[in-house]
Amino acid sequence: MALRWRKFASLTILGIFLLVVTALFVTGLWRVFVGPKARATTNLTFERTPARLERGKHLVENVMGCFYCHSERDFKAPGALPIEAKKGGGAIFYDAPGQMYAPNITPDQETGVGAWSDDELARAIREGVSRDGHALFPIMPYMNYKHLPDEDLASVITYLRSIPPIRNAVPRTKLNFPLNLLVNTMPQPLTVPVTTPDVSTPAKRGAHLAMLASCADCHTPQDRGTAIPGLAMAGGFTLNEPSGQVTSTNITPDPSGISYYDEALFLEVMRTGQVKARKLNPTMPWALYGKMSDDELKAIFAYLRSLPAASHRVDNTESPTVCKLCKGKHGFGDRN
Ligand code: HEC
Ligand code: HEC
Repeated sequence: MALRWRKFASLTILGIFLLVVTALFVTGLWRVFVGPKARATTNLTFERTPARLERGKHLVENVMGCFYCHSERDFKAPGALPIEAKKGGGAIFYDAPGQMYAPNITPDQETGVGAWSDDELARAIREGVSRDGHALFPIMPYMNYKHLPDEDLASVITYLRSIPPIRNAVPRTKLNFPLNLLVNTMPQPLTVPVTTPDVSTPAKRGAHLAMLASCADCHTPQDRGTAIPGLAMAGGFTLNEPSGQVTSTNITPDPSGISYYDEALFLEVMRTGQVKARKLNPTMPWALYGKMSDDELKAIFAYLRSLPAASHRVDNTESPTVCKLCKGKHGFGDRN
């Protein structure tokens, strides 16, 4: 009897084990243990042309903001710009789930990405997999950059290769449990060409630019890493940088957002970091976006105007209170 029971128990344990393994396979969660989905890199190299260098500089410096994260910044300068001599040399990432570093992405052979192939860089930027195959945490906005068209990717890499190398060894990121495991489920390989999306209207052009500029990463509040439905670009995401704690504001066309803006005011805000007399906290990277062309900024404004109006009051001049809409704590939270 005891023997039969033991046999039954061991069969059941085997059964449960198989069930768990099957479930993990079906959900793709087994990635947690074996590392991220990654394609093999090729020896593809992008021809360095003056047009790509110029386009890449514009995308990297004025739109995608690589150096805002990958450099030490001067938090006392207007707009907290990256320190020129440290551009791309890597930085600690404040306010992250664990100890996070934005690596050195200058062409230094040992401490930067100088020894990486073009395709290894391409895979890190758009697919979130580092050279050694480990998954990057999506604070590196590869979920947005997967929409970067192939030609623009070539431009970004051409420019990145041209900046002065900086010798600066940056420690590897250490994420807290369970993110250190879950991060492995995030990278998705790109196996088809990425073409320029439909940019036939200003609003569509603006949507693409806002994607590359990662506006929603800060302006759409999240609950455990997922955007809260109905609050796209409605603010409520709180950031802690050396310039102080600040919550992103509502930039939808609602009266609690920026319904009172016109195109001219939007351009002024992005160029000066001031909404009339109100100075924006430099965590809002206006000093980088402000270098976009009038046409690009107008397109972004047209896109913001096309968004559904979401009612959500956020005011950084008031002391933080709990908000039932975004589940965060911010000025005027109790008025939502
Ligand atoms: C919002 C901040 C942010 C922006 C913007 C950003 N990055 Fe990153 N990037 C990071 C962080 C943080 C990591 C490291 C993530 C980790 O360790 O899991 C990273 C990782 C990388 C890596 C992998 C390096 C390595 O050693 O594994 C490359 C390459 C890279 N970024 C390039 C870029 C480029 C090029 C741009 C602009 C087109 C860019 N990043 C924009 C934050 C950012
Ligand atoms: C790194 C996070 C971050 C990113 C990325 C970001 N913002 Fe912001 N933004 C903020 C924060 C925080 C504030 C609130 C600043 C304050 O109240 O002092 C803000 C404020 C603003 C304001 C002022 C609204 C008001 O209160 O009148 C506008 C306009 C704006 N952002 C537009 C954008 C656009 C457009 C993009 C993308 C091109 C963008 N932001 C990307 C963090 C960010």
